[in-house]
Amino acid sequence: MRRLFRKPPDQSLSPPQHIAIIMDGNGRWAKRRGLPRTAGHAAGAEAFRRIANYCRTLGVRYLTVYAFSTENWKRSQGEIGGIMTLLRRYLEEALRDMEKNQVHFVFFGDLSRLSPELQALCRDAETRSRVYSQVQVNFCLNYGGRDELVQAARRFAQDVSLGRKTPEELDETLFAQYLYSAGVPDPELIIRPSGEQRISNFLLWQSAYAEYVFMDVLWPDFGPRELDEAIAQFHRRNRRFGGVK
Ligand code: FPP
Repeated sequence: MRRLFRKPPDQSLSPPQHIAIIMDGNGRWAKRRGLPRTAGHAAGAEAFRRIANYCRTLGVRYLTVYAFSTENWKRSQGEIGGIMTLLRRYLEEALRDMEKNQVHFVFFGDLSRLSPELQALCRDAETRSRVYSQVQVNFCLNYGGRDELVQAARRFAQDVSLGRKTPEELDETLFAQYLYSAGVPDPELIIRPSGEQRISNFLLWQSAYAEYVFMDVLWPDFGPRELDEAIAQFHRRNRRFGGVK
C-alpha cells in the first residue's frame, strides 16, 4: 500500500557521489518478529542488495557499507558465523555476476582475521572487479576507524624508518594515502538507520565534513524510498566546510 503513494524522487537533485551507510537494526528487526538474529542479518543482506542496485540506478559513484566492525567479534560465534556466511554467499554471487553488474569491490579493514576462504574471495573480488569504474562498493570488514588511523600511522612510521618519507612531508593529503580509503573521495552523506545517533568508529577521518542523516527505520526495512528521503535531507543542508555562505 505504501508503495502506491510513493512520490517519484526529484530528478533535479543529483545524488551525492559517495554515500556511506551504517547498516544498523538487524537484530531488533529479527527480535520483533521472534526470529533469530541471523535472520535479521539475512534480511539486512537483502536490503544491501536493494540499495546497491538503487544506487547504481541513481548514478551514485561510491557506496561504502559497514558490514562488520572490529568490535563485532564480541558477538556470539553463531551470530559471527551467520554474518560471515552471508558475506561469503554474497561474494560468490558477485563473482559469478561480475560482468553483468560491473561493480568494483574494495575492502576496508584488516582482512587477516577472516577465514582464509573469505580472504581469498575478497582478494578475488577486488582483483577481478578492478576493470569496472562506474560504481565502487567499499565493504568495511573487520573495520574500525581508530584501527585504520593506527595502521596508517604505523605504515607511515615504517616508511620514515626506511628512509622513504620524512616527518616534514606529512600533511593531510599524504596521510590520507595511508588509509584504506586511499584514492576514494570522502563521503558527502552518511546514513544511520535504526534510530541510534552515534558514529560507532565508522570512517572517523573521512567523515570530517560529511552530512549525517539518522533515520528511525531498521536497516532490513530500508529501501529506495528511505534513500530518496535521506538524499532529500542532504540537499536541504547548508554545507559550509567551516567557511561562510
Ligand atoms: C548491525 O545491526 C549490523 C551488523 C553488525 C552486521 C551487518 C551485516 C549485514 C547487513 C549482512 C552482511 C552481508 C552483506 C551481503 C552486506 P545489529 O545487529 O547491531 O542490530 P541491533 O542493533 O538491532 O541489534
